[in-house]
Amino acid sequence: MRFSDYERIVFFTGAGLSAESGIPTYRGKGGMWSEYDYEDYACERAFRRDPEKVWDFHDKRRAAVFACEPNDGHRIIAEVQRERPGTVVITQNIDGLHQRSGATDVIELHGSLWRVRCDREHVVRDDASVPMSPRKCSCGAYWRPDIVWFEDSLDQRNLRRAHELLESCDLVVSIGTSGVVYPAADLPRIAMRSGATSVEINLDETPVSALYQHRLRGKASEMLASMR
Ligand code: APR
Repeated sequence: MRFSDYERIVFFTGAGLSAESGIPTYRGKGGMWSEYDYEDYACERAFRRDPEKVWDFHDKRRAAVFACEPNDGHRIIAEVQRERPGTVVITQNIDGLHQRSGATDVIELHGSLWRVRCDREHVVRDDASVPMSPRKCSCGAYWRPDIVWFEDSLDQRNLRRAHELLESCDLVVSIGTSGVVYPAADLPRIAMRSGATSVEINLDETPVSALYQHRLRGKASEMLASMR
């Protein structure tokens, strides 16, 4: 199966794509959520309860991610986008590595480590400072990481656009996602129902593996290289 056989490709990516860049995944061996309780660091209640603690955690993540580089998997996806202009990326990742590898049309379903927002003034801004400073907006409220935390709802514009792209694609490639977080995990089904060819790239089986026509087992960068 080659990318050149398809015109409208959707890459649906998860933390496993960035694992080879040295960024820990969320689940499985060494996963973030085995070390940190998301209820203390990655939900609105925790942020309201102790914004400094949440920002200390996020500054650690920003520093760690900032030190990482995109890997060949990111680069291959960006290359496919250049060669096949109808190619889009729908990512659950917040690390910004797709953009740093040259990918252009990237829908960040779960937001970005590199964006912050003030919910009092309704402003959103890019911010790559490590550590993030100042932590407070000029209005006095804390800047909030523009990340979709647990119990947050996803941006409806992103969801609508993702639906449209998945309904009209002819190939959906899911890469490095455990397929257990909804509504994101439901999205590839839209492409399958529309008759697209479906590929799951993962080291292991996932709860949604049976839905995919093709399952490539191995590292994301190597499996993507095999489709060039
Ligand atoms: N190549 C391919 N797959 C890999 C690799 C690799 N090098 N390393 C790990 N994987 C796979 C794992 O087998 C696992 O199935 O990547 C997947 C990572 O799963 P998760 O850690 O659950 O990450 P993800 O699916 O992106 O999480 C979804 O959960 O915590 C929330 O909002 C967060 O966006 C995140 C969402």
